Amino acid sequence: MRVMVTGGAGYIGAHVVRALRGDGQTVGVLDDFSTGSRARLDPATPVYAGSLLDTAFVEAALRDFEADAVVHIAAKKAVEESVADPLLYYRENVTGMHSVLESMVRAATPRILFSSSAAVYGPAATSPVTEESPTVPSSPYGWTKLMCERMLCDVAAAHNLSWAALRYFNVAGSAEPHLADRGETNLIPKVFRAISTGVAPKVFGDTYPTRDGTCVRDYIHVCDVADAHAAVLKQMGSDLSASVYNIGTGTGTSVLEVMAAVRQVTGIDFHHDICAARPGDCADVVADPTKIRTRLGWRSRHDLKGAVESAWQAWSALSRSGS
Ligand SMILES: NC(=O)c1ccc[n+]([C@@H]2O[C@H](COP(=O)([O-])OP(=O)(O)OC[C@H]3O[C@@H](n4cnc5c(N)ncnc54)[C@H](O)[C@@H]3O)[C@@H](O)[C@H]2O)c1
Repeated sequence: MRVMVTGGAGYIGAHVVRALRGDGQTVGVLDDFSTGSRARLDPATPVYAGSLLDTAFVEAALRDFEADAVVHIAAKKAVEESVADPLLYYRENVTGMHSVLESMVRAATPRILFSSSAAVYGPAATSPVTEESPTVPSSPYGWTKLMCERMLCDVAAAHNLSWAALRYFNVAGSAEPHLADRGETNLIPKVFRAISTGVAPKVFGDTYPTRDGTCVRDYIHVCDVADAHAAVLKQMGSDLSASVYNIGTGTGTSVLEVMAAVRQVTGIDFHHDICAARPGDCADVVADPTKIRTRLGWRSRHDLKGAVESAWQAWSALSRSGS
């Protein structure tokens, strides 16, 4: 299959490109490099540099690449930023999805796999959450993902597209140093950045109704997330599917437990600062991944320690090389 990956120069996108290649697919990347990096891409990768919001450009890229499928990963992803600047999120994520779907319809590209998020569930869902749990997001970011799922469902029905939405939980780790998460939003790289500069990492809220008062999340290794794309795409090649899948481990870890894992892996003892809870954060969000395991046989293979170890190796290698 010829697969166009939007956001393929980003953290998760580059791992998905790697996994799909490993699975024998021919992969192209469409990215505006707003947060992505060319250093994550093999120089032989066909790259279409530009914005999702430019529908004529996306359509031309799909036609030129002769794409059989789109893996739509490109988006803005920070909950806190979405609360401060919701218009940015509705434009980039929702208008971006509209543009991708319109381009696909015009270019007759029949399949789409979409990067959704556990942020669609919100506080109304009780962990572990299934795909049928209530979806009442607590942030504009979560709403953009839910709106994209709805748009996908409606457009796919009208234009006979095969689609799947993967609701990732908290993605961590790295397959190789040059693919690492260099962002400022995810917990593990934030802790690495803090301890590398001698600053105490921040814990936002310690009075949540969880076992130690800090937020509980389901941390999934990015290689497992990438492999889930290969598994879903394979199934989409043979039938006209329409599915939503949770992509998580089924195990919850609190912020303090993540800090403990970082201390263990790095051998660095550090203090953390307790700060006020952030708007939009839920207490406990852990996946029930039964559906994808039962239907496709996919399951996570890595644990939290493996994710922290690979992320720390990548962080250390990038720090040594000064990139
Ligand atoms: N990282 C997580 O823990 C997590 C969890 C759940 C869902 N997700 C979703 O996974 C996806 C990827 O996340 P990530 O952590 O790899 O982020 P990232 O910022 O590393 O990657 C996003 C990529 O999309 C590109 N991009 C952004 N806007 C674009 C536009 N308008 N046109 C073209 N390219 C554009 C960026 O340059 C970048 O390469 C996002 O959709 C995010 O919402 C991430």
